[in-house]
Amino acid sequence: MATAAVTSRPARRMWWAAWATLTVSAVAIAGYSVPAYLAGDPTQSRLPLNPDVALHYLTIALHALPAGLVLLLGPVQFVPALRDKYRAMHRIVGRVYMVSVVFASVAAVLAATFSVNGFSAQVAFYLLTAAWLYSLAQAYRTIRRGQVRLHRIWMIRNYALSFAAVVLRVFLVLGLAARSRYEWLTVESVYTTSAWASILVSAGVAEWFIVQRAVASRR
Ligand code: HEM
Repeated sequence: MATAAVTSRPARRMWWAAWATLTVSAVAIAGYSVPAYLAGDPTQSRLPLNPDVALHYLTIALHALPAGLVLLLGPVQFVPALRDKYRAMHRIVGRVYMVSVVFASVAAVLAATFSVNGFSAQVAFYLLTAAWLYSLAQAYRTIRRGQVRLHRIWMIRNYALSFAAVVLRVFLVLGLAARSRYEWLTVESVYTTSAWASILVSAGVAEWFIVQRAVASRR
């Protein structure tokens, strides 16, 4: 989400509109979904818990807290003026973001393993975790080598995967609303489809955005 290639006024306006939409939805979803896991009370879990695993709620909570932080910190890192003016802050926030992704990923693997929402959703979450960690490792490796453009590209990919959590919840709301009209839709099929679709859409939009920037910078 860097504005390096965004030079014209309409393009800049569009960039800020996209950034504001992304930020507002990230804050809204983090604010809506994470608090249920702050209380330490399993009865508040929004997901059905595995009756055979006493620690299931804890793994979701240990995932949701750092993941919520990731969602909130990401947009700050993409503001060019902040990044250029306050380099030390960008580095500190970047480290907090990285550590949070790692903690959230470890807990996500456990939460996915204990999940009672079906094998297909479990596989989606395992692959999402792998892609989340891989893109993070690439972002770190490239910035350590001074490859700033590549670092930005990998961070766009990484945050897009974080943002899959927002897209998932939008799809869930739409899918569950559709159930009142299409009775053959099961909750499990809505959940699984939303999980896969949220990853595809988030990663696809990120790749589209990266290509658009590359094309614009060559004009
Ligand atoms: C991008 C990588 C992510 C992965 C692989 C992942 C994985 C998971 C898994 C496996 C579960 C349990 C699902 C189940 O039992 O079926 C879960 C739940 C949850 N995740 Fe994530 N997640 C990711 C990102 C995020 C982000 C960025 C947030 C920020 C809000 C988040 C917040 C939550 C919350 C709050 C829950 C509990 C369910 C709910 O109440 O909606 N996750 N996640």
